[in-house]
Amino acid sequence: MNFKNSLSLCLFHLFLVGCEKREEIQKSLHVEPKASQIVVDKKSLQKELNEIDTNSYLEAYIIHIINNGSNGILGFSGGVMEGGIATKEDAPNIARFVMSLSGKQSSDDNAGKKAELFYTSNCGGCHGNDGKGLNGAFPDLTQKSFRGIEKRKAYLKSNLD
Ligand code: HEC
Repeated sequence: MNFKNSLSLCLFHLFLVGCEKREEIQKSLHVEPKASQIVVDKKSLQKELNEIDTNSYLEAYIIHIINNGSNGILGFSGGVMEGGIATKEDAPNIARFVMSLSGKQSSDDNAGKKAELFYTSNCGGCHGNDGKGLNGAFPDLTQKSFRGIEKRKAYLKSNLD
């Protein structure tokens, strides 16, 4: 084999190696989930749907809204609710107090008294001291089912069809 031939063979080899590499990268970027992952995801969606009407789910939801706010997606004319009004430590007690307004939780200990004071000074202005909201502009926090939870339920159901 002369020099020219071996050089082109060498280049051809490099080209092949290059192709292999590219294929590897494309494979690793391939985002389509494997069938087993879809099963796992559906399982966790189903698990969430099974728990969505429980008080512990509602408590976690209220804590989430206190910490992160709600950016208007729920469609109340009151607009946006900022997150972080309370500290992360206080949020669970405030959530329990909110639930006590409709008898879904008890909140009559010392932490509950502190949470009540926090609620009436920081949340009640919009949601009402009794939690019943203001003429539909601000959500009623004593309602049976919260709008954000209903939306999540619809999303979960549509993904499990
Ligand atoms: C400035 C007015 C304002 C204050 C203060 C406020 N909120 Fe809200 N809150 C809103 C609005 C407006 C929404 C609906 C936002 C949307 O449409 O996404 C909302 C949504 C919520 C929701 C979800 C309701 C649902 O139906 O899904 C919860 C729970 C909530 N607020 C709890 C609280 C708590 C607890 C506090 C006090 C730490 C608080 N909010 C303080 C205005 C307020």
